[in-house]
Amino acid sequence: ARLVVLVSGSGTNLQALLDACADPTYGARVVAVGADREGIEGLARAERACVPTFSRSVSDFETREGWDSAMATLVERFEPDLVVSAGFMKLLSTDFLGRFLTLNTHPALCPAFPGMHGPRDALEHGVKVTGATLFVVDAGVDTGPIVAQVPVEVAEDDDVASLHERIKTAERAMLVDAVGRIAREGITVEGRRVRIGGRDR
Ligand code: GRF
Repeated sequence: ARLVVLVSGSGTNLQALLDACADPTYGARVVAVGADREGIEGLARAERACVPTFSRSVSDFETREGWDSAMATLVERFEPDLVVSAGFMKLLSTDFLGRFLTLNTHPALCPAFPGMHGPRDALEHGVKVTGATLFVVDAGVDTGPIVAQVPVEVAEDDDVASLHERIKTAERAMLVDAVGRIAREGITVEGRRVRIGGRDR
């Protein structure tokens, strides 16, 4: 399966996918990495892995739609089977999402704590267990059909950084496992029900 990965930051989720893809039995290949800004470690990771990159900043476009459709055109060039938004900090339009099956990782157990501050909000709420969620992106914020989840315990002495780091370790393993299974076995999305597997091999 051909993956286009979208990033906005440090790209550790991307790195986990790049590392997994080095094994030919994994079944997927990162064919391009896209970003909404320059100068980030995520793009540097792609370059070190000799994966083509592109980046377009919203501020370079007159309208948000213009940016979104430019991103879709760039993504399309790489003919992905799957787009993985991995720490990509922009919402994509329904037009984009209609063109590409797009998965996103979120550092909380959806539907709890959507938005930009999953680890902080979980800590402030005082939950004892949080985690990470991989889901099919829809028009909402972290609302799409759930593909995979992993629980992470909150420690007494956690702060936002320590909790997020522990979530990210679990998140990367979940992402690599689920994307590999999807690449090898396929995915069906029917309403809110997501099933991995069932592809004739
Ligand atoms: C991840 O926890 C992701 O879920 C969140 O931001 C983090 C990105 O980390 N939206 P990285 O860029 O993959 O290291």
